[in-house]
Amino acid sequence: MTNTAHNQARKRVAVLISGRGSNMMSLVEASRAHDYPADIVSVISNRPDAPGLDWAGSQGMNTVALDHKAYTTRAAFDDALHAAIEDSDAEIVACAGFMRLMTPELVAKWHNRMLNIHPALLPSFKGLDTHARALAAGVRIAGCTVHIVRPEMDTGPILGQAAVPVIDGDTPDTLAQRILAAEHRLYPRILSLFAADAYDIHQDLAHLRAASLKTTMLFSPET
Ligand code: GAR
Repeated sequence: MTNTAHNQARKRVAVLISGRGSNMMSLVEASRAHDYPADIVSVISNRPDAPGLDWAGSQGMNTVALDHKAYTTRAAFDDALHAAIEDSDAEIVACAGFMRLMTPELVAKWHNRMLNIHPALLPSFKGLDTHARALAAGVRIAGCTVHIVRPEMDTGPILGQAAVPVIDGDTPDTLAQRILAAEHRLYPRILSLFAADAYDIHQDLAHLRAASLKTTMLFSPET
C-alpha cells in the first residue's frame, strides 16, 4: 500500500488538550502503527504553556495554541476553536484533558464526532476532583470512561470503560496514577474502534458491533 492510500483510509483526528497531554501522547504513539485507522493531524491547546503542546511540537506535529483568555466570550473562543479544528481538516475531535466547558453550539457542530476521556466510571463522579470523591465514597472499583461529548458535562454515549481496583491506603494521587495508566490503554483502543466505524450511535447509547467479552467479573478486593 502506498503512503497516500494508507493515509486516505485513515480518519483525521484533532486532539484537544489543556496541560500535560499524556493521553494525547498515547493516541499519537498508537497512531504510528501502520494499521491504526486514525491519524492525529493537529494538537490544539487552550493554554499556550501546556507541556503537551511542546511535546507534540517536538514530534513534528501540527500544533495550535489558542489562549482562551484572549477571547471575551466563550462563544468567541469556541468559534476560534472550531475554525482551528476545521483548518486541520479533522473528521473526529478527541478531547484529552481539555479542561474548558464548550458551548452547545460547538458540541452540535461535532455531533457524534467528538470524544472525551474522563477519569471515572461514568455516570458516577462527573466533574472535577473525581479521584478524591471516589475515595470519599468508599468505592472499591474505579476507572475511566471514553464517551461521545454531549452539551451537558461528562454525559453522552459511553464507548468504553476500564476499571482498576481501589487499594486501602490510596490517596487521590495514587488512585489517579493507576487510573491514568488505564486511560493510556483505553483511549487508543476506543479511538481505533470509533475511527473504524465499529459503533452505532442511537441517541444516548453506543452499540459496538461484534463486541467480544474476555472477562466476566472483576473483584476488588481479590480474596
Ligand atoms: C486525565 O486524567 C483526563 O482523564 C482528565 O484530565 C487528565 C489529563 O491528563 N480529564 C478530565 O478530568 C476531564 N473531565 P493528560 O493531560 O496527561 O492527558
